[in-house]
Amino acid sequence: MTDDFTKAEAASRFLLSQTSLVPRIGLVLGSGLGGFADELSDATRIPYTNIPFFPRSTAVGHAAQMVIGNAAGVPVAAMQGRVHLYEGYSAHEVTFPMRAFDCMNIRAVILTNAAGGINLEYKQGALVVLTDHINLQGHNPLIGPNDERFGPRFPDMTQAYWKPYREIALAAAKRAGKTLYQGVYAGLLGPNYETPAEIRYLRTIGADLVGMSTVFEVIAARHMGMKVLAISCVTNMAAGILDQVINHEEVLETGERVKGDFVALLRAVLPEMAKDVEESPGAQH
Ligand code: HPA
Repeated sequence: MTDDFTKAEAASRFLLSQTSLVPRIGLVLGSGLGGFADELSDATRIPYTNIPFFPRSTAVGHAAQMVIGNAAGVPVAAMQGRVHLYEGYSAHEVTFPMRAFDCMNIRAVILTNAAGGINLEYKQGALVVLTDHINLQGHNPLIGPNDERFGPRFPDMTQAYWKPYREIALAAAKRAGKTLYQGVYAGLLGPNYETPAEIRYLRTIGADLVGMSTVFEVIAARHMGMKVLAISCVTNMAAGILDQVINHEEVLETGERVKGDFVALLRAVLPEMAKDVEESPGAQH
């Protein structure tokens, strides 16, 4: 059986052969947030189905393609849609795109997601930069023999969300006169939304947001020494906070509504992140 490293190298070679750009930052655009990739210049769009070994996403609201292009002068590789554990993919499949980014020599990623707001200071449509996470998915993408070519057996997670990038994002939001919150993301398996009792439990253990993605990608990225910025869009207040039910259409609609602020924030942080990656690329292999 071909190992993940060999597969990721094949995916990386294919992706780089499709463009003359050399992407410096990888992005994963969550539910309803894919619009950022529509605005890239010099863009090449590559459906996941064409990329060797790439998983294909099935969730509604995901375009299922990689867009390589320039944003604010920075060459990026942006995933319009990701796959989730709840779709039946393995943890290794969910993190395969991160492995491919690594083989493309991408040393920094921006992960975005739609999330339910647990912190009562948040409102629907708020943007939140993640400071940390709680992995409640009951699983881990590093399970199995460790491949030292990617990283160590027991990677550190104390700086999972790179503080200098958080500061870049907070400063950019301040300059633009926009509120950007900070918070801890609880990653659950899904696909059902939580019960009100689960949300009370999550608040008690220190979560500000809840969602069904991102934590595996962060774990894999940190395994490989990549630096991570993660931004959630509070598409709805979590279960039981408001006297209303949660549905996926609402999640997508909110993503669409905040698109302008979201794209502006990403465009503002990218040049500073790219400068940082150039100056201190972190672990290489
Ligand atoms: N819970 C879990 N995942 C989500 C939510 C939520 O309320 N909203 C968007 N993704």
